[in-house]
Amino acid sequence: MTKGLKQKIIEKTAPDLKKVEAALEYHLKPNLDLVRKIASHLLFSGGKRLRPLLMIHSARLCGYNNGFEIEFSIIFEYLHAATLLHDDVVDKADTRRGKKAAHTKWSASKVVLTGDFLLARALDIAAKTKEPNIISVIAKITQDMSQGEIDQLGKKGKLNLSEEEYLEVIKRKTAVLIQGACQSGAILAKAQKEKEDDLNQYGFHLGMAFQMADDLLDYTASAKELGKNPGADMREGKLTLPLIHSLANAAPDDKIWMQDAITAPEFNKDQFEKLKEKLYLYKGIEYTFDRAKGHVKRAKACLDGFNDCQSKQLLCWIADYSIARKV
Ligand code: IPE
Ligand code: IPE
Ligand code: MG
Ligand code: MG
Repeated sequence: MTKGLKQKIIEKTAPDLKKVEAALEYHLKPNLDLVRKIASHLLFSGGKRLRPLLMIHSARLCGYNNGFEIEFSIIFEYLHAATLLHDDVVDKADTRRGKKAAHTKWSASKVVLTGDFLLARALDIAAKTKEPNIISVIAKITQDMSQGEIDQLGKKGKLNLSEEEYLEVIKRKTAVLIQGACQSGAILAKAQKEKEDDLNQYGFHLGMAFQMADDLLDYTASAKELGKNPGADMREGKLTLPLIHSLANAAPDDKIWMQDAITAPEFNKDQFEKLKEKLYLYKGIEYTFDRAKGHVKRAKACLDGFNDCQSKQLLCWIADYSIARKV
């Protein structure tokens, strides 16, 4: 079923995605070859291009269809790439998109500065939309994401992290960007405020579901499928919803064992496997999936007010795919 969904999305989006790839190359334009190398290492290593697709189809859903939506959609891939470069430094992650993370090949300083370069490229292209509200959306995204990441750092190893605190972190670090891509599509199309709000909320719920799915995959996927190392959250002492829910429901001795496992200084594969068993036993996996499903349902409901068309169909498929994906 999942493969069918992925296949359908790929078939419908392939021609646009080819143009997105070309635009990503064309607009990079650094003066320094080193910046091109670092940025290209991440940019052209096989991301799903989810955020550009969301902007393109949000714009088209609101009647914008003159081709510029493709050019402008790369704003959100550059922004995404900037945050991934920064995030892998922050998380000390060594693998991304199946390749060595950029900061393991170049210094963290060069990688962070390349991230800043990509953010500035995104702003430069955004200015060409002549829509100040799109610039405001980007400013909000950047403020939220940096604070979401900082907030998460401060909460590392916090064993009594609540579900509310977790939701606040994932809203900032992930949902706002996806939300902003959808909202910007509507702004570009000069959609009515009501439609802009609907797409904003679609993006919010999709983003929440997407990050919950990501947090599930960190426990359930293989490195080969995922292109990043599973178990990263345990390595980083990062509590996510599967663990938060399981801790709240675990028997006292299991709770202590799980808390020790997540704060252990060294990552241990056997301990990780055992932790996974507890997450199934105490239904953290099931609960997280149910919550993600709820967000997908709400995301799709936000599209009810739009006429049926190919872009609406795609946005519905993308919502379903966000939690059915293996990568
Ligand atoms: C990764 O995003 C970061 C998260 C928000 C979980 P994606 O899963 O969209 O990454 P790529 O672009 O496909 O590599
Ligand atoms: C996802 O952060 C959001 C950002 C990249 C800002 P994570 O740290 O949870 O995502 P991955 O697992 O590294 O992609
Ligand atoms: Mg990370
Ligand atoms: Mg992170």
